[in-house]
Amino acid sequence: MTMPQAPFPAARLRRTRRSPAIRAMVAENTLSPGDLIWPVFVRDGEGVEEPVPSMPGVVRRSVDKVVEAAKEAHALGIPAICLFPYTGNENRTADCAEAWNPENLSNRATRAIKSAVPDIAIMTDVALDPYSDTGHDGFVVDGEIINDETVEALVKQALSQAEAGVDIIGPSDMMDGRIGAIRSALEGAGHRDVLLLSYAAKYASAFYGPFRDAVGASGALKGDKKTYQMDPANTDEALRCVARDLSEGADMVMVKPGMPYLDICQRVKQEFAAPTFAYQVSGEYAMIMAAAQNGWIDGDRAMMESLMGFKRAGCDGVLTYFAPQVARALNG
Ligand code: PBG
Repeated sequence: MTMPQAPFPAARLRRTRRSPAIRAMVAENTLSPGDLIWPVFVRDGEGVEEPVPSMPGVVRRSVDKVVEAAKEAHALGIPAICLFPYTGNENRTADCAEAWNPENLSNRATRAIKSAVPDIAIMTDVALDPYSDTGHDGFVVDGEIINDETVEALVKQALSQAEAGVDIIGPSDMMDGRIGAIRSALEGAGHRDVLLLSYAAKYASAFYGPFRDAVGASGALKGDKKTYQMDPANTDEALRCVARDLSEGADMVMVKPGMPYLDICQRVKQEFAAPTFAYQVSGEYAMIMAAAQNGWIDGDRAMMESLMGFKRAGCDGVLTYFAPQVARALNG
């Protein structure tokens, strides 16, 4: 689409860039704390904040500290917090039973946040990788990640999270049929208002490395996730994944990682007009932080610019480890 345009000098496009006031008037996109979902890592213990070496500035928090973080997030205007448990080898088994233990770390953190900060939305992750001895998101039989048996386990995991009181369930496992199965189980159990934010287009990415350190999965993972996560070469397939998940009952969809996949974000939003989120993943965070710590880029500006890119691409919001820093900057 070519807009009618006066020739130079009638048209001088620099006129609308000449001062902060004029630039603010013509800004096409905005970023606000309401656009942010903050992923946090939960570990056992009390009063613990343990740094994650590959993610400078990010810590694993014990439940009491997660509650403090949720209070802070709420005060900053961040609408949602997303919980990821760090699990040691003692909780990793072939049957992954810890995933639906009502007393597991994720469920305990959910109840603690709900009673202390009832107004913040809590999102949780559905996938078996924190609980499997293989580090995979599903059960492994003869070297294969088996789909349907995994979905049965994911349903149990999702129900236990709903029981604990989460607002939003985020299936990140990329098994086929899990959205429909989880949706019908939630309806059957009376959890009619629990939202599903499907990790619909999740790619087999090198950018998850620091996250796997953060949740203790790096050592466990054997092989790669290419038989269930998407090939970075594909776009049409992402649209089919999104269409499928929406038709099975997803309320919102996610593209992951974020920055290398902005084309996917844009196409998903344009084609489906559904609430669309991007996950600025651990490796994206680590790259910006590492360059900033070396003095190679201005970290704060790179952070804001990277997030505005998601808004420009059409995303309704972004999961980002920068959430509290960004909200603080936006709140002045
Ligand atoms: C696991 C899961 C992963 C992330 C979120 N949920 C890692 C993976 O698929 O191996 C990655 C998040 C990040 O890198 O920040 N189901």
